[in-house]
Amino acid sequence: MYPLNYIEPVFRPPSEWKSLILQVTNGCSWNKCTFCDMYSSENKKFKPKKIDLIEQEIISIAQSGLPTGRVFLADGDAMMLPFKRLKEILALIKLHLPQVSRVSSYCLPRNLGNKTVEQLTELRELGLKLMYIGCESGDNEVLALIEKGETYQSSLLALNKIKRAGMKSSVMILNGLGGPELSHQHAVNSAKLMNEAQPDFLSTLVVSFPLGEERFAEKFTQTSLKAFRQLTQQELFSEMAVLLSELDLEKTIFRSDHASNYLVLKGVLGKDKARLVNTVQMAIGKSTAIPIRQEWQRGL
Ligand SMILES: C[S@@+](CC[C@H](N)C(=O)[O-])C[C@H]1O[C@@H](n2cnc3c(N)ncnc32)[C@H](O)[C@@H]1O
Ligand code: SF4
Repeated sequence: MYPLNYIEPVFRPPSEWKSLILQVTNGCSWNKCTFCDMYSSENKKFKPKKIDLIEQEIISIAQSGLPTGRVFLADGDAMMLPFKRLKEILALIKLHLPQVSRVSSYCLPRNLGNKTVEQLTELRELGLKLMYIGCESGDNEVLALIEKGETYQSSLLALNKIKRAGMKSSVMILNGLGGPELSHQHAVNSAKLMNEAQPDFLSTLVVSFPLGEERFAEKFTQTSLKAFRQLTQQELFSEMAVLLSELDLEKTIFRSDHASNYLVLKGVLGKDKARLVNTVQMAIGKSTAIPIRQEWQRGL
């Protein structure tokens, strides 16, 4: 365990399980997405952490002698910090933890609006090599409904900026986000966004509501859409089949193995597209050859 005083809860991408989680802000600066309760508790109000405190923590890690190969900057969107502050943090990591080979962070597309490609390149050269972007959807109607505050175009701009700076991108898309009515356009436009952006990594999660779906469903009632309902397992598989069929990726590592998924899918797209589509089709056909997670095995 790293000797740090976290303001809990702390979230990180599943692939960062071995990394040092360095909390450089508390909470999320946006905190409005209607599906997300991750930073909604009283103690998680957004606040950047003071640089002196961050430095003390980095020094205490260095002194602990614990192996630290990778660092993840928490919380919800550390990339909202100004360029100068991010540079300071990365320089401190380089100074005290010179063995660190990769720093990563969650990133909202709008976090990059005030940062140039040259600045991002400088951050990458200081070790910040991977951005996790919760695009959630490529469909503007869905994005408006979930109050992401982003659009197809703003997401694409950010993903292109990341690429031009030589950083890697890992995108999250949420299955089930548009309910049954918007399922098809959600899948088609999410695939379209990914095809234009060609991210390095793509993962899909199933939208889940551990604290209840009222807040999320309320937005649907303010439109001419039918009331929201969660997709059934079969509908989720059908949405996944549309997404995968529409994806035209060259070399993206695809993962649909987060605990929220019923069906575990992994591969490299496009190489493994036919195999993955076939697996989903078999799951739709209720083939017993395809293992499906039970409800109790799922989580967020
Ligand atoms: C901790 S959030 C931080 C992401 C970052 N703020 C962003 O928006 O890009 C990480 C991801 O968890 C996923 N997530 C959050 N709430 C969820 C929910 N209720 N169900 C499923 N996935 C959820 C979303 O894909 C989100 O982008
Ligand atoms: S999904 Fe990301 S931007 Fe939206 S509220 Fe959650 S942490 Fe904030």
